[in-house]
Amino acid sequence: MVKKKTCIFISGNGSNLNNLIKNSRDYVFPISVSLVISDNPSAGGIKFARKNSIPFILINTKTRSYENKILQNLRKYKISIICLAGFMKILSKKFLSNFRYKVLNIHPSLLPKFKGLNTYYRIIKNKEKKTGCTVHLVNEKLDGGKIIVQKSFFISENDDEKKLKFKTQRLEYAAYPEAIIKLLRYTNS
Ligand code: GRF
Repeated sequence: MVKKKTCIFISGNGSNLNNLIKNSRDYVFPISVSLVISDNPSAGGIKFARKNSIPFILINTKTRSYENKILQNLRKYKISIICLAGFMKILSKKFLSNFRYKVLNIHPSLLPKFKGLNTYYRIIKNKEKKTGCTVHLVNEKLDGGKIIVQKSFFISENDDEKKLKFKTQRLEYAAYPEAIIKLLRYTNS
């Protein structure tokens, strides 16, 4: 199987990155993690790139041309899929429109509910009965593109933010690989 070269964008712990690296070792999983991009030099996830000898690039998002630097590297490494996994920057409309790559994101809520930051806090405050995670295509609207996979669970009375995060992320580790397989099957490329 010819695997699609994929770049994972991170800003933090990188547990989804680690999960995708593990999945990609499976012979029939359709992507290889070929590049990691981080906008945060102290992102914990960088260790997973190092450990697995995957090239990683640090991007300084304070410079004006950082999206060009990203594009150059995506071309250099022949990337055809991008997976955002806890990447805290919004990619511009121009970046996305220049783009022949497929871009996915994972968000810790049942979109379109609870777009944006502080998701777990708002879910608890709103006394939601159910929550989960969503993998969606990225467009220029925050957490707004077509939904590919969504997984949910019922919230218990004693779930706090920490427990919600734990339960949500456990679902994320199943949802992201599933979404990648689904996307590539649909688009047949
Ligand atoms: C994930 O829970 C994802 O939903 C959100 O950011 C978190 C990243 O976690 N967008 P990790 O860095 O993959 O551990």
